[in-house]
Amino acid sequence: MLVKIPAVLDKTQVERARGIMEAAQWTDGNVTAGYQSSKNKNNLQLPENSQEAQTLGNQVLEALANNNAFMSAALPLKIFPPLFNCYQNGHSFGVHVDNAIRRVPGTPVKVRTDISMTLFFSEPDEYDGGELVIEDTYGSHSVKLAAGDMVLYPSTSLHRVLPVTRGRRLASFFWLQSMVSSDEKRALLYDLDMSIQSLRAKVNDSPEIIQLTGVYHNLLRQWAQT
Ligand code: NI
Repeated sequence: MLVKIPAVLDKTQVERARGIMEAAQWTDGNVTAGYQSSKNKNNLQLPENSQEAQTLGNQVLEALANNNAFMSAALPLKIFPPLFNCYQNGHSFGVHVDNAIRRVPGTPVKVRTDISMTLFFSEPDEYDGGELVIEDTYGSHSVKLAAGDMVLYPSTSLHRVLPVTRGRRLASFFWLQSMVSSDEKRALLYDLDMSIQSLRAKVNDSPEIIQLTGVYHNLLRQWAQT
């Protein structure tokens, strides 16, 4: 399931974050790549232990904690601290699958990557190229979103970032372990939850909506690992 979540950050938050990014020291993006990905990754990254990455990462996590669409789509159990990258001057990232397990630096915590996320900090008209291309069973999806918007996709997907041929593409990228590891089951729960919420907005509470809400929670009870 590929889900786009608009306005995770508003434009003021994006501007403030970009101010921090512009002033930061960037390093080679290969520091977080696995062996297979390091061969075709070519970009810049904020060092993950830098003050800037931590401040920005906490802002992203705080925004996500208050985002109902994200919570419903991801059902997060553990979230890897957000990382930040920059593509410019022809930078690209060739086709790869993200590592299955990530250890949170400086801790014993391991995160199984069920969902990969990209949160955009540059507007689409600020750069050429830089599309995130995600393959799934329905084909190839090219994603380039407004600053502040985010995409979630299964970490099992092959994906790549096309070369940035003009301007600068700033983004945050990270992973999470979901309470529901199966993408198929998560997609069913998300569809059910979205339908219930939209029904509730139309007809307020009814015995059927209460019943359906019960079905949602009883499925979640069967499928969730905590
Ligand atoms: Ni990746």
